[in-house]
Amino acid sequence: MKLVFATHNQHKFREVKELVPSHIELLSLTDIGCFEDIPETEPTIEGNALLKARYVLNNYGLSCFADDTGLEVKALDGAPGVYSARFAGPENNADANMKKLLRLMNGHADRSARFKTIIAYCTSESEELFPGICKGEILQHPRGDKGFGYDPVFLPEGYEYSFAEMDQTTKGAISHRGQAIEKLVLHLST
Ligand code: IMP
Repeated sequence: MKLVFATHNQHKFREVKELVPSHIELLSLTDIGCFEDIPETEPTIEGNALLKARYVLNNYGLSCFADDTGLEVKALDGAPGVYSARFAGPENNADANMKKLLRLMNGHADRSARFKTIIAYCTSESEELFPGICKGEILQHPRGDKGFGYDPVFLPEGYEYSFAEMDQTTKGAISHRGQAIEKLVLHLST
């Protein structure tokens, strides 16, 4: 079975490829000749995930899934949330985003946060949503050089290592995206 994963993020693609069984041939946007930036203009994570998956279905005629992720920080009333990518500006710069986050967290004793992912799976027959949540806390300083995005400042609950200090397999076993993918894979097998 061939399935498109609508992302230009190579880190995400590698993470997800490791999580899907080998009978599913995962195609990237590059594989299908889609080089344009898919708009993410909805005010919710669910809406943006659907927007990306529908874009590929409507423009390329292929069944597709897409994820959208937000980091929700309790002390910041759920920010950056749906605006996680462009928290510090339109260029989606991970270092600038983390810097801004750490600055806003100054003086907050409660550093609890969670990653929320929604995977939208769209075919010509149906649309399905699969959520995944990973709880944890925001570290005082970035740690580690693996992963991407906010990984260096996120310590998952029950672990001593930040996401950026873990290998891809360990992160995938506990992460928001890993959980959502598990639900998608179960759905595809039933
Ligand atoms: P999007 O889902 O690609 O739109 O991601 C929104 C923002 O969250 C971007 O800044 C990503 O770098 C970041 N992000 C998404 N997934 C993860 C993750 O698994 N770890 C750390 N940051 C992430």
